[in-house]
Amino acid sequence: MTQPGHTKLDKETVTKAYARWAPVYDLVFGAVFERGRHLAIEAAERIGGRILEVGVGTGISLPHYSRANRICGVDISEPMLLKAKERVAALNLTHVDGLWVMDAERLAFADESFDVIVAQYVITTVPNPEGTLDEFARVLKPGGEIVLVSRVGAEAGVRKALEKWFAPAAQKLGWRTEFSFKRYAAWAERTAGMRLAERRATPPFGHFALIRFVKDGNRTAEGANQPFIRAAG
Ligand SMILES: C[S@@+](CC[C@H](N)C(=O)[O-])C[C@H]1O[C@@H](n2cnc3c(N)ncnc32)[C@H](O)[C@@H]1O
Repeated sequence: MTQPGHTKLDKETVTKAYARWAPVYDLVFGAVFERGRHLAIEAAERIGGRILEVGVGTGISLPHYSRANRICGVDISEPMLLKAKERVAALNLTHVDGLWVMDAERLAFADESFDVIVAQYVITTVPNPEGTLDEFARVLKPGGEIVLVSRVGAEAGVRKALEKWFAPAAQKLGWRTEFSFKRYAAWAERTAGMRLAERRATPPFGHFALIRFVKDGNRTAEGANQPFIRAAG
């Protein structure tokens, strides 16, 4: 059952929506989300190493990562990912190790594969945000970080009313307008070994936030060169 204030999204709606967005995505959402993307990359690169970008979309962030890091990207939308692959080839982005069609909720990577998980404007588009964060925590190395840029719904007032009113239309476009920060905080509180480290308002309009979670433990370079895709079955 959908809880009050929890808009329901299903994967079919999301994949159909992003198949429609793919040809125009960069034009519509390129500049408007640029600052948030740069803040997320900056945060991710303070850790550095093997970075997984979930919901990589058209790969709009990929050229902005330092070549010193190794980047993997996944997205549920094949048309969006196709654009990302074109970008990697056109710009010769040799720091990108691979791009895969994959569901954020069921990542085909072994436990503790990545130093950082980045998801920009993604968590409010997945059907099960908390389950997705669980999956991020699983593939994250001890001492690593989850870096999100995400929409944060209003707690009260006119904006909250407007978000509620716009929710059904937003759902058809492939995202949620209602999404309380309490959900992130509650997830960190009940998830063993994960800690909320930062919430910082980001443009546009301060309706978004950079959110960082840290996984307990010390990071080691161990396993960095091991195969990290889980064997099927
Ligand atoms: C708003 S776009 C953000 C794209 C990119 N991160 C950016 O900064 O512009 C959301 C992306 O998340 C992807 N997405 C939605 N649900 C997903 C899921 N369950 N697993 C993987 N990717 C998903 C969509 O296909 C889309 O490319």
